[in-house]
Amino acid sequence: MKTLTVELGRRSYPIYIGSGILNNLAQKLKDYRLTSKCAIVSNPTVYKLYGEAFYNSLSEAGLNTVVVLIPDGEEYKDFFWAYYILSKLLEEGLDRGSVLFALGGGVIGDITGFVASTYMRGIPYVQVPTTLLSQVDSSVGGKTGVNHPLGKNMIGTFYQPMLVWIDVQTLKSLPEREFLAGLAEVIKYGVIWDKDFFEFLRDQREAVLKQKEDVLIEVIKRCCEIKAEVVSLDERESGLRAILNFGHTIGHAIETVTNYRQYLHGEAVAIGMVAEAMLAQKISLLSTEDAEMIKEVVADYGLPISTGGRLQRAQMLKAMSLDKKARGGRIRVVLPQRIGRVRIQEYIEVEKLTEVLNSI
Ligand code: NAD
Ligand code: GLY
Repeated sequence: MKTLTVELGRRSYPIYIGSGILNNLAQKLKDYRLTSKCAIVSNPTVYKLYGEAFYNSLSEAGLNTVVVLIPDGEEYKDFFWAYYILSKLLEEGLDRGSVLFALGGGVIGDITGFVASTYMRGIPYVQVPTTLLSQVDSSVGGKTGVNHPLGKNMIGTFYQPMLVWIDVQTLKSLPEREFLAGLAEVIKYGVIWDKDFFEFLRDQREAVLKQKEDVLIEVIKRCCEIKAEVVSLDERESGLRAILNFGHTIGHAIETVTNYRQYLHGEAVAIGMVAEAMLAQKISLLSTEDAEMIKEVVADYGLPISTGGRLQRAQMLKAMSLDKKARGGRIRVVLPQRIGRVRIQEYIEVEKLTEVLNSI
């Protein structure tokens, strides 16, 4: 098992990564001497696969646990279902010594973290991510939240988990499309922070796609290390942390104008990364060679690199100005300078952006 730490002073916490470790979490929890009733928050899809054994492992370790399930889907990551979970916790008598276990992908992780941050003014929670995206990204860093009809993730908190427990074996049941979408975020880390990692991903494509266990553990570990480092330097996104949004300004706009129906988040980010690399090349920030390399690696991983020209440019520009990174309606984009280094670009010529939007 690999262990790393998110260094945040008194709020530091460990991330454990291993294979077949899901039901060993109960043993680790003995270090925490939990006595209050706890809750597993999950959805029926994940709970059916892993829930019962996970629940039994906690019970066998002496933990009194209740299960709270919400329906499966991004559309349930909202206030209503957060309130539903909060109500269940109250009904079941959870107290300030209770811990929540978020067993699932990013949707479950985000809403559970949000609930944990507000239940009795904040109780601990453990991230037990079961999708690649949640293992390399959403379970680490303490961004929690729910969606509002007027915008995704618009309501939320920064609230760090007590620990993150990653079992790569859970990925075996993940639909291939979800796995590939998670890989877009993996490639992102190479572009923003670590050229060697990017080249590793380029060279080890087959092993990664075959989910070779040791390679997968290394990949997830490197992503978590990078995220942990960025978060330790800028927990509340006053600057640096925004680099984690490379590919997301255009990616998010693609999701918005397609009503979140056509692309998975990672797929939209994949197109966004290629488009933002193209934009960087157009303003002479990035070499043509590096822009081409980013496009090639994204495509080689079976991810989309274009929308086929079907998106409305005006709608895309409007969506981009509503992005959380925008200030006073001005679009800010994370652009690569070379593979392994990015910067936040405050000013983008609309013509250049339009040219790029026309070509994706
Ligand atoms: P998800 O949670 O919807 O999971 C995708 C699908 O896979 C769901 O149907 C889920 O039930 C299923 N699933 C989960 N684990 C499985 C498994 N092991 N086997 C089979 N099926 C499984 O989606 P996601 O991609 O994990 O997360 C997306 C969410 O994460 C979005 O809401 C996004 O806003 C959020 N997010 C948050 C952060 C953050 O920093 N907090 C970062 C990135 C994304
Ligand atoms: N997923 C972006 C962040 O955690 O900041």
